[in-house]
Amino acid sequence: MMKRDHGGNICEISRRYGIDEDKIIDFSASINPLDYPPRLKETIIKEFDFILNYPDIDSFDLVSGLSEYHGISRDYILAGNGSTEFIYWIPILFKPEKALIVTPAFSEYEKGLKMVGTKVSYFQTDEKEDFSVDIARLCKRLRDGFDIVYFCNPANPTGVLMSKENLCSIIACAQEAETLFVIDEAFIDFAEQGSVKKEVLRFSNLIVLRSMTKFFAIPGLRIGYVIGSMPCIAKIRETRPPWAVNSLGQKAAAAALSDRDYIMDTRQYVTDEREFLMAALSEIPGLKTYKSVANFLLVFMDNRISLNSRELRDSLAKNGVLIRDCSTFQGMGDRYFRVAVKKHEQNMILVEKLKRVAK
Ligand SMILES: Cc1ncc(COP(=O)(O)O)c(C=O)c1O
Repeated sequence: MMKRDHGGNICEISRRYGIDEDKIIDFSASINPLDYPPRLKETIIKEFDFILNYPDIDSFDLVSGLSEYHGISRDYILAGNGSTEFIYWIPILFKPEKALIVTPAFSEYEKGLKMVGTKVSYFQTDEKEDFSVDIARLCKRLRDGFDIVYFCNPANPTGVLMSKENLCSIIACAQEAETLFVIDEAFIDFAEQGSVKKEVLRFSNLIVLRSMTKFFAIPGLRIGYVIGSMPCIAKIRETRPPWAVNSLGQKAAAAALSDRDYIMDTRQYVTDEREFLMAALSEIPGLKTYKSVANFLLVFMDNRISLNSRELRDSLAKNGVLIRDCSTFQGMGDRYFRVAVKKHEQNMILVEKLKRVAK
């Protein structure tokens, strides 16, 4: 069986260390600290009896809401059971022989590709360049002839954002090389102006993956979508399994999109708390953070800290605090961990525990 290595394993930690689930603070999964928008719960309660019917196969209302939200015609959008549905469906559909993943990156791209026998190569970003992507080097690499490339923007686990202009020049290189370009924008809602969503009108090789599970805090409801060029969307629409998005998820997610106050409050809160956390972590001897636009921070431990990232994760878990050990990310080694930006009181607890444990 393939190993699942992700954040958010509250149940498992609760069982292992005998700590009540509600006493655990989870910094390992990067979910909006303000929780879901209030109208989302009201909608689910109100619409509950819709579970008696099959869900709308086209997720019409949700796709209409997304179309309005992004200012993009509904023809370019498909809703799914989290963006993970598409991460697994795209390789099945396009059958790439050779793939390139810009790393470090979310592990499911590789798992999806390997399921269909794709040969996977990596384009590793470098700590010395603060994990930014060298455009000329990547374009040169694309000339090696890949069928598909995966690029996460902002990147997970680094939080680094590439500008829209720079990303477009890379997509153009990929288009020239006849390479399908998959951009994962799971965390772009925190910096929406950086999205290349509208470029699907210009680039026929572009698929943008979007998730509602992080920004709208609904990982358990599983809503994601793709915005893609017309040929890509048509292919995905024709082939994917039906009824992937449950009725309550469709209705609740559509309601969430219209909560403008929640969306604005989230961006402000996360920006403020990210700055607070970054400053507080940087003051702990031995820790270094990187500039992130997302609701998480990558942290490096230098040799003043004797624990490696797995040991630090385990020590904090015993104290009821979960962090994401990054040693399972391609090319990262065991000196990095990732923490979500949470509520102020929780962020202060993280800083205090790290001061005591990270030695
Ligand atoms: C970068 C990235 N992409 C995609 C996903 C999957 O998101 P979803 O919940 O929409 O399937 C995750 C989940 O952690 C992620 O970190």
